[in-house]
Amino acid sequence: MDWGRRHRLSRIFDPRSGRTNMLAVDHGYFLGPTAGMEEPAVAIPPLAPYADALMATRGLLRNTIDPAIVRSIVLRASGGPSIVGPALEDEAITTSVEDALRINAAAVTTQVFVGTPFERQSIANLALLVNEAGRYELPVLGVTAVGKELGHQDARYIKLAVRICAEIGADFVKTYYTDGFEEVVRSAMVPVVIAGGKKLETERDALQMAHDAIAAGAAGIDFGRNVWQSPHPVAMIRALRSIVHDDASVDEAHQMYKDLAADEK
Ligand code: 5RP
Repeated sequence: MDWGRRHRLSRIFDPRSGRTNMLAVDHGYFLGPTAGMEEPAVAIPPLAPYADALMATRGLLRNTIDPAIVRSIVLRASGGPSIVGPALEDEAITTSVEDALRINAAAVTTQVFVGTPFERQSIANLALLVNEAGRYELPVLGVTAVGKELGHQDARYIKLAVRICAEIGADFVKTYYTDGFEEVVRSAMVPVVIAGGKKLETERDALQMAHDAIAAGAAGIDFGRNVWQSPHPVAMIRALRSIVHDDASVDEAHQMYKDLAADEK
């Protein structure tokens, strides 16, 4: 692996823990102004100091974010469909590698829709990104989609989708936590981080999921809604960070969340 790729990855994965606490804020590329992220210029700056990487689109970055506040960027490079259109899986690569380099992204990302009529197209999108980004030693994050079209998926499906991303050349993969996650990590070949998914009922539920994923060998988390839809987003990202980087227990992290939330009042 070239020095440049290693350097970019070290901006995402903190060398002290080897893990990453990413913050996903790219939802607007198909969901528009999602609850809690209507005004990125207001929502993101207080959270940025606690995120190792921001997963975002170029439009959100250029229009709302001061480059000085962000440690690293994982740039969303796919898009096309919207939540009100016929097929969310019908994605194309929308952002060139040249533009990712102008933004000084540490990685670029697209997602695969394994098991849908668009699996070939979405895997070809990932391959294109790997080929193009590879010219500049720019790492690629492969994302395995679930959601409306695919529903909840078990370890068998997640293992399949994650491994396909790695075989196509992704440097790391983002997927969803599931029972049997150790098996997902074992067969992934590359580091695996988890998405948060829809806001869980309680903050403790989200902390528990992050903890279970790390205990099962995940290399980090990339939560969005479970951070910025929390009543106390800064307390939440800091509590999650303590699990990812400091091996905090769920009780310790939850206490940290409650203490920080109380201090805000
Ligand atoms: C969408 C994404 C999002 O970044 C991902 O869903 C993470 O956000 P959340 O934790 O809110 O699910 O990759 O495809």
